[in-house]
Order: sequence, then structure tokens, then C-alpha cells
Amino acid sequence: MELNQWATRILSADTLEEKLLEPAILSDDQPGPALFWDEPTRPPGLEFQKHARKDKLPPLHELAHSDKRAICLHRFAGHELLAVEIMAYALLAFPEAPKHFRRGVANTLREEQEHVRLYLHELKRFNIHLDDLPLFRHFWAYTPFLRTPEEYLSVMSLTFEMANLDYAPMYGACFSQHGDQKSAQLMERILRDEIAHVSFGWNWLKKLKPAGVTEWDVWMQSLPDRMPPKRAMGTHFQEENRRKAGISDAWLASFKDSLKN
Ligand SMILES: [Fe+2]
Ligand SMILES: [Fe+2]
Repeated sequence: MELNQWATRILSADTLEEKLLEPAILSDDQPGPALFWDEPTRPPGLEFQKHARKDKLPPLHELAHSDKRAICLHRFAGHELLAVEIMAYALLAFPEAPKHFRRGVANTLREEQEHVRLYLHELKRFNIHLDDLPLFRHFWAYTPFLRTPEEYLSVMSLTFEMANLDYAPMYGACFSQHGDQKSAQLMERILRDEIAHVSFGWNWLKKLKPAGVTEWDVWMQSLPDRMPPKRAMGTHFQEENRRKAGISDAWLASFKDSLKN
């Protein structure tokens, strides 16, 4: 199957099975014209809901209760499904991007599909299905700002996925503290994969940026106006995880400086 056919099927899927479709062989011989998908089709029960105050994730001290942990795992599963869709969006939006870049996005998409499956598997222990709790538009609010591969890498890989380098270990530690080792192990696995996804974003931003411009400047210029740099971090900044992803000293120094303003 061609990458653009696969992406189209994912974005127009009205079943979860189709969202998680994994063709054995993928080709990229006819990437087609650039297509900027507005909004994905959602299976019944998985439509986007309006986010309200009551939908904030429960605070960490409440995660001793399994129903509160289930709310967190469900939300994270929702984020993974959004990541699947945004990567499908990128495959359709950037047909002219280097083949290796497109192949990398496709591989990452497969891993995000696997993350959805892993969370759904965990949620079974809590008797929760994906359609039991509300799901939100979140990343899709930013697709109007993802018009170039550099913008995609800056917003998706180097902001949303980068923030998970703080959130995943924070929730993992909290789950573990409350005796839920299975959920903690899942967060460890997610962290490992997300470090690789951030690394993919970093390496390609380096390759695609104009010569003579720093990664920091390209990243800053690529973020939508209403998105401050601190969206690229969680509650506690885990510098070590960013170093594992290959982020440079210069970028890290600029990031920490930006937090002081
Ligand atoms: Fe993921
Ligand atoms: Fe990811």
C-alpha cells in the first residue's frame, strides 16, 4: 500500500481497527499532491468533545485510586491516537519531503499505533474502553500551523513529544509509588520510544533547516504565536532525557533561558 493511501484510510477511518491498520508492505512511489487534512473522521463514540474545566487530569495525589489512574491512562491513549492521525496528516501534507523523512514519519506512526494498543491493553485491567470517557481535539487545533516539515517537526516532535519526556516519567513514578507497576512499566516503554521520536525530530530539523540558522531559531520561528516554548516541557524539566534524544547543549541553554523571561 502507498503511504498516502494508508494515511487517507487512517484519517477517514470510522472504526478503531482501521485507525490502527498496519499494512505489511508500504511503498512511496506516488506521494501525490500536498493535502492539508482539516479534521479526521472519528469512529462512533470517539468523536472530539469540548474540553471543560472538569476534564482536567486528576492531581497526582489522587492517583492512589485506580479509577483516577484509569482516567490518566485513557487520556494518554487519546493522545496516542491523535499522534497517529497527525502523522498521517504529515504524510499527506508533505509529499515533496525527502523519502527518508517520510519513511521515518511512517515508522513513528506505526509506533504510535502500538502505543494506542498498549494503553488499551492496560485499560482492560480497569474495565475501561476508549469510548467510555471523553476524547479531545488537542493536536488538531494546531494543524493550521503545520504547513512545512520544519513546522511539523517543531510542534509535534520537538514540543508535544518532547513534553512527554517529562510527563511520562512523572506519571510512571507516581503509578509506581501507588503500587501499580504495570502502568509504571508502560510509561517506561513510552518514554523510551518518545526519546527516539524526539531524536527523529531533532535530526531532521537539523537537516532541513537553512544553513547558518541555529536549530533554536528555526524551532522558535516554527512555533505558532500562541504557543510559548514552555509547552515543550512538563511539570519538571528532565534535561537528561533530552540529552538522550541528542538535543544540543546550545538548544538546551536557550530553552532554559527562555523560561526566565
Ligand atoms: Fe506515543
Ligand atoms: Fe511519539
